[in-house]
Amino acid sequence: MSVWHIRGGRSLYGSVEVQGSKNAVLPIIAASLLTPGESELIRCPRLSDVAAAVDILRSLGCAAGQDGDTLRVDTRGLSRCEISRELMHRMRSSVIFLGPLLSRCGEAHVYVPGGCEIGPRPIDLHLHAMRCLGAEVQEEDGGIVCRAGKLRGAEISLSMPSVGATENAMIAACAAEGPTVIYNAAREPEIRALQEYLRLLGAEISGAGTPVVRVTGFVPRSHAIMHIPSDRIAAATYLCCAASAGGDVELEGTDPASVETILRALGEMGCRIRVGNGTLRLTAKPPLRAPESVVTRPYPGFPTDAAPLLMAVCARCRGSTVFIENIFESRYRHAEQLRRLGADIEIHGSLALVRGVETLRGAKVESPDLRGGAALITAALAAEGETMIRDQGHIRRGYDAPERVLRSLGAEIWTEE
Ligand code: UD1
Repeated sequence: MSVWHIRGGRSLYGSVEVQGSKNAVLPIIAASLLTPGESELIRCPRLSDVAAAVDILRSLGCAAGQDGDTLRVDTRGLSRCEISRELMHRMRSSVIFLGPLLSRCGEAHVYVPGGCEIGPRPIDLHLHAMRCLGAEVQEEDGGIVCRAGKLRGAEISLSMPSVGATENAMIAACAAEGPTVIYNAAREPEIRALQEYLRLLGAEISGAGTPVVRVTGFVPRSHAIMHIPSDRIAAATYLCCAASAGGDVELEGTDPASVETILRALGEMGCRIRVGNGTLRLTAKPPLRAPESVVTRPYPGFPTDAAPLLMAVCARCRGSTVFIENIFESRYRHAEQLRRLGADIEIHGSLALVRGVETLRGAKVESPDLRGGAALITAALAAEGETMIRDQGHIRRGYDAPERVLRSLGAEIWTEE
């Protein structure tokens, strides 16, 4: 449990390097199990979710360790195909280990990650993909056992472009005999990153970034060096922090295309945005104009993970914004906390109406989940006085030393563990 203190009202100035992507590195760590070998993952962010993934690898007999921003993984020692309930629960995306384990061992015993943070996260599409590839799946008492003598390439149609299910299917398909085609695949940039890594491991795979991904062959290699792309949601977070507090902030090492929808929204709100060679610069002078609506959709639509951050900015804009959440059910738990800071937000199911107010005031709040916690920081930076955010470890699941990053921009932020 940590408490984040923020004294708001200071504009942010300066330049920051954006961390490597959490959502890219987690499936890549899982995919490293596919073949016995060593991988070096460069620009790996220091996150508790990464530590949880490393603990899973170790529990399976593999070696892994992080040295600065390089994570080294050695999967030659794999000796088990079961992940404990406790480890499965520690990280919500642990289900991504299912495909790799099944591929390497012909068997995988995992548990449904329990407790919901942003709504039910079913795994039916993950299991559907494994079944299509010839696995036998048994579900019992929260436990899942998958078995396959030999996985067979198949046509897999996803009823929804689930990011995790697409990743599990891509990884498992590498070990299958014969070609696989995944229809209605997720198109998120993290899918492209996984394709790049799978190619380094020897996979013939194409189509990532489009709705059809094809895996046509696999000649395993035992060594891979992968550069993790920058985290588009962390980039969106620091852009929203700058928009909220005002100032002039430059992000280095980001891919502007991956945050296009966020840039469009911030531009519409009156922020000045300049895209340079691998840099993104945002200048903001609050109060900003409220955008009319923000509708979350699978990539290339507006990301559900960035909506809470933008909502924090809209809380202090001129005008009102309607948010519509199309991906997860309970994505508005931060709204009640933002209200404690003085925000005017009404929730009706998947719709949130945010009426901008002139002033937010510091208060004691509770971080409800990862992006909700980041949204509270975003709002607190613009609030008068001090905000205290009690956080049960959500924020460090996804952000690498955010207090250091924000302090370097001039924010008054400190933490108590
Ligand atoms: C990933 C991201 C998460 C992001 C989300 C949506 C990682 C580690 N996490 O999560 O940060 O918020 O994408 O962009 O990359 N669904 C099913 N059945 C399934 C799987 C998913 O119905 O078997 C539904 C979910 O309930 C949800 C939607 O599909 O409504 C999208 O979920 P999905 O894309 O799978 O999200 P994650 O991969 O869990």
